Amino acid sequence: MRDTDEMGLTPEAAQGYEDFFLPAIFAQWPPQILNASGLKAGDNLLEVGCGTGVLARQATTIVQPDGQVTGLDLSESMLSVARRKCPGAIFQQGNVMDLPFETGSFDVVIASFMLMFVPDQPLAIKEMWRVLKPGGRLVVAVWESLGKNPAYTRLVEIADRQIDQAAGASLAWPFALGEDGKFADVFNAADVATPTIDAHKGRARFASIEQFVETEIQSWVLAESVNDSSLAAVQTEAEEQLIEFCDADGALDIPLNALIAVAEKHR
Ligand SMILES: C[S@@+](CC[C@H](N)C(=O)[O-])C[C@H]1O[C@@H](n2cnc3c(N)ncnc32)[C@H](O)[C@@H]1O
Repeated sequence: MRDTDEMGLTPEAAQGYEDFFLPAIFAQWPPQILNASGLKAGDNLLEVGCGTGVLARQATTIVQPDGQVTGLDLSESMLSVARRKCPGAIFQQGNVMDLPFETGSFDVVIASFMLMFVPDQPLAIKEMWRVLKPGGRLVVAVWESLGKNPAYTRLVEIADRQIDQAAGASLAWPFALGEDGKFADVFNAADVATPTIDAHKGRARFASIEQFVETEIQSWVLAESVNDSSLAAVQTEAEEQLIEFCDADGALDIPLNALIAVAEKHR
């Protein structure tokens, strides 16, 4: 059994997230999310599910020297990368469903591409709302549905066929809140605020189809359950099915669109 943490992640998986997922997918999103949050100099920011701290790195340059960025994550493996990469922020292990902070502590609370992994999503929203100051802003980003992200639909179908339905479901899971009205339903169930929810366009870029499959399947939680022969079968089918998304150099450049919800807490 490998040395996994509360999220089932090894230190190697967290480093893989930093080295491969960030440049391919996540590093482009902090400017759009921070812009939606209205974060400014002197603010006290909490980012829940901060991962390796890609957003925290940019946020510290906005809030400092008078403000503070706090990143919280369930995964110690992710947090140890974040502490190395972003010494200007505070990083703390914890669960978004039971935040270890006083009521009304933060000017801005951000949850970037993490809510889909949380078992009780309305409780997570309630907790984030609780720790916001009056006048503060909650910003939550999730992926749009698989229907809006066609290359990922193909990858899910290939994983269903070549590994098993659990693998396909695991790859589809991050897109679940983008399905019809589900994101708004979580806020309704939390019963704290009605957010504005806007669609935002993004891209995912990988050097090759092989790197896409490696990153999506081998660098993340699926890695432990996929053997070499099923991975090879996924690679072979993906080379056929995803070729239309490649440019002349064989690089994969695919749409990866998101929804960003913003809610303001009245004074
Ligand atoms: C896809 S990553 C996103 C990381 C980061 N926000 C980014 O944009 O790169 C999702 C993160 O949420 C964290 N996470 C999942 N469930 C959580 C929970 N219940 N409480 C706190 N963090 C959680 C995971 O450990 C992981 O680091």
